[in-house]
Amino acid sequence: MGYADELFDLTDRVVMVTGGSRGLGREMAFAAAQCGADAIIASRKYESCVATAEEIAAATGRTAFPYQVHVGRWDELDGLVDAAYERFGKVDVLINNAGMSPLYESLGSVTEKLFDAVVNLNLKGPFRLSTLVGERMVADGGGSIINVSSSGSRRPRPEQLPYSAAKAGLNALTEGLALAFGPTVRVNTLMPGPFLTDISKAWDIPATTKGAQHFALKRLGNPPEIIGAALFLASDASSYTTGSIIRCDGGIP
Ligand SMILES: NC(=O)c1ccc[n+]([C@@H]2O[C@H](COP(=O)([O-])OP(=O)(O)OC[C@H]3O[C@@H](n4cnc5c(N)ncnc54)[C@H](OP(=O)(O)O)[C@@H]3O)[C@@H](O)[C@H]2O)c1
Repeated sequence: MGYADELFDLTDRVVMVTGGSRGLGREMAFAAAQCGADAIIASRKYESCVATAEEIAAATGRTAFPYQVHVGRWDELDGLVDAAYERFGKVDVLINNAGMSPLYESLGSVTEKLFDAVVNLNLKGPFRLSTLVGERMVADGGGSIINVSSSGSRRPRPEQLPYSAAKAGLNALTEGLALAFGPTVRVNTLMPGPFLTDISKAWDIPATTKGAQHFALKRLGNPPEIIGAALFLASDASSYTTGSIIRCDGGIP
């Protein structure tokens, strides 16, 4: 093993990724398995979880466990955690990645249903899952929780206001949970800017690309570019980092 391989090694660790079937979650789950971890791939569409889990297992030789769950539903999260501990006996890394930001016409057109759905998935679910897993991690002697937030939480835009507010809540959750679960368990926020995942299919790409010209890197992110920051937070490479926000956004001013 080279020096960096050891620093970022995840051999025999168990990494749970919500929204692990597609997009940034899939990238992070794949990368964790490449570094030696077994992965739990959790999202709403079971077939997608199975397909991604099979690809990960075939490419890395690690175990990947698909699980169907709606992260915005409090009562479904106990089942996910129980299944993970039954299958692997532990979770070393929890990546609260599942998230979404539905489009709406105007602020006045935002319904209570839309608002609740956004908060449930981006904030309530991660709270419940972090508390369920975090307490077990403390009892087991260690772990790392990564909350995937958004640059929108720092620079809220009118067209994504419920989402930005929920992600800002997630940033707050990170700091509080780091205190609650420290010194045993580390909790950090990974804050992406705009990445070209399925989410971006709803965007006006020329306009968004033009908007990115004021970023330091003057472009949108490609999904694999999330991996380095995720592996840093998942592994012992970040052993003195907790309660923090790691931006991965091309340098949004
Ligand atoms: N891409 C960006 O530009 C960007 C920017 C800032 C922040 N982020 C954040 O990064 C995270 C990942 O985004 P992404 O771009 O990778 O999204 P994506 O490509 O749309 O993938 C979303 C993933 O979450 C799952 N998911 C969606 N709703 C779910 C639910 N209710 N319960 C469980 N799983 C659910 C999806 O699978 P199913 O459909 O099978 O459920 C899928 O695996 C999100 O938290 C997002 O807010 C993304």
